Amino acid sequence: MSGSGGTYRATRAPQGLSGRLLVPGDKSVSHRAMMLASLAEGVSEVRGFLEGEDTRATARAFAQMGVQIDAPEPSVRRVHGVGLHGLKAPAAAIDCGNAGTGMRLLSGLLAGQGFDSELIGDESLTRRPMNRVVLPLRQMGAVIDTAAEGRPPLRIRGGAKLHGIRYELPVASAQVKSALLLAGLYAEGETETIEPHPTRDYTERMLSAFGVAIDFTPGRARLHGGQVLRATDVQVPADFSSAAFFIVAASLIPGSDLLIEQVGINPRRTGLLEALRVMGADIQLENRSEHGGEPVADLRVRHARLRGAVIPEQVVPDMIDEFPALFIAAACAEGLTTVSGAAELRVKESDRIKSMADGLKALGARIDERPDGALIEGGRLHGGRVDSRGDHRIAMSFAIAGQLAEGEVVIDDCANVATSFPGFVELARGCGFELFESAG
Ligand code: S3P
Repeated sequence: MSGSGGTYRATRAPQGLSGRLLVPGDKSVSHRAMMLASLAEGVSEVRGFLEGEDTRATARAFAQMGVQIDAPEPSVRRVHGVGLHGLKAPAAAIDCGNAGTGMRLLSGLLAGQGFDSELIGDESLTRRPMNRVVLPLRQMGAVIDTAAEGRPPLRIRGGAKLHGIRYELPVASAQVKSALLLAGLYAEGETETIEPHPTRDYTERMLSAFGVAIDFTPGRARLHGGQVLRATDVQVPADFSSAAFFIVAASLIPGSDLLIEQVGINPRRTGLLEALRVMGADIQLENRSEHGGEPVADLRVRHARLRGAVIPEQVVPDMIDEFPALFIAAACAEGLTTVSGAAELRVKESDRIKSMADGLKALGARIDERPDGALIEGGRLHGGRVDSRGDHRIAMSFAIAGQLAEGEVVIDDCANVATSFPGFVELARGCGFELFESAG
């Protein structure tokens, strides 16, 4: 289960990072593969499934609703789909743990079922805004109750008759778009989503792979309800967002030359590469191919002297999960980095602008927090103690900071790294990180 506890101790890497490494499967793709395979007719095999707490919680949710899911080996799931209308009422509330993606996508999918359900989550998830999905789902006819201000738990009434809507999203969010498209499978008529900026399109691509007729172009998607999903095998690419910690670390640590193998490079995910290249990073994409319909490549990252940069607002959605790592790059670069148009960071697993600003200040960095971003002055970091606030990406980002700082960096509340990146510490140590984990 996700939870608190777990302390990292990080000290300066004695030499550059080197070797080849393979990071775990993509979290976004793993959630969606489990959901669509469960709703499909027939047996689908998901390979490269992320063995993280978040995606395992999603698998447990479908097991609770009567889906047989075999795990013949680690990172493989054989899902015996029950068809669009084959899910059964869960006997208890569905616990999404720490996973915003799990809860938001499930809310759309459950809004169309014939049975009542309840979605709950951990302390962090219980603080996160759900009205962004609940309000448009109600427009579609869903009956959903929330706690105050649209927070979880979500109580979803079964048997509601959904109808398609055309919805212009107020914020760029793949989770909101996906929730509506999943509800749209159960709706009468057409459901259409229009985003202010294109976001990751895994739901659209995967629905199409499962045989659903869906029209989509960047920023727009529409489908008709009542379609049959046909089982198909899914190969999950390695998660770019997990690779990001190593991309930043290898860029910053002198002498590094690291190869990260077969990483998903869907352009809606790789904004960090653009940002780092503007900052002077040396990142080559080699051995490009396709992995289950998704572009993948080996990323070869060598140390380079990074300069501060203005991060263009239009690239923000394409690197929305990479800002904690980018903040570390900025704090160790030469000169000023400006991040704006990124207010969404305040409603992630933690308030990531504040978590990073407080942590970086504790290590001596100069950072000026803004409502929608930050100004970060590059320089040297000293040792200190930081609180990850139970946020996996904050914990891993400060593990990088520890490789550069003069003095030990102690990071509290790191247990949730297992939500997205099981085995992070071992993998990091294997390529040259000085990083130790204790029970906390
Ligand atoms: C995700 C979408 C993003 C991202 C999250 C995963 C997804 O959230 O931050 O980690 O799988 O759809 P938003 O859609 O809320 O921006």
